[in-house]
Amino acid sequence: MRIVAHSDHAGVALRLEMVEQARELGHEVDDLGPAVGEKVDYPYAGAVVGHKVSAGEYDLGILVCGTGVGISMAANKIPGARAVVCSEPYTARLSRQHNASNIVAVGERVVGPGEARMIVEAFLTTEPAGGRHAQRVEMLKALDNQNLALEDLRRMGPACTG
Ligand code: RB5
Repeated sequence: MRIVAHSDHAGVALRLEMVEQARELGHEVDDLGPAVGEKVDYPYAGAVVGHKVSAGEYDLGILVCGTGVGISMAANKIPGARAVVCSEPYTARLSRQHNASNIVAVGERVVGPGEARMIVEAFLTTEPAGGRHAQRVEMLKALDNQNLALEDLRRMGPACTG
């Protein structure tokens, strides 16, 4: 798969580890940096990867900041981006199966290199499960339209009440 990776200055070391792991698994990775000592704000890095994955330029994205939170928030502002913050591989796997996540975000101040490698492996070796999960992913995609009425969302899901 074609993967794009980016981080802010707080996520450089872990991003390099995760990029290496993705390459070892046979994926083509474009690493957008930054290098050690360079400053990049997490809203920018998250938005860049959100746009590139959403546009289909890449299949999946990898993001790292101090906690994984800010950079995933930024990515999720971009319609079509479904970023998940992970601190263990189970969430990475389930987010691919159930939510068709397309960007994984990890915090260098939270997760060690070994755990991060397992997260990458789970994320890159799991496909969306389809079926009832696909229907809910369609609802998520519909929410990219800021003007979507709740009534429209209810019509898409049989389990929408209240
Ligand atoms: C940068 O110091 C830090 O705030 C950032 O990497 C991240 O943790 C934000 O969510």
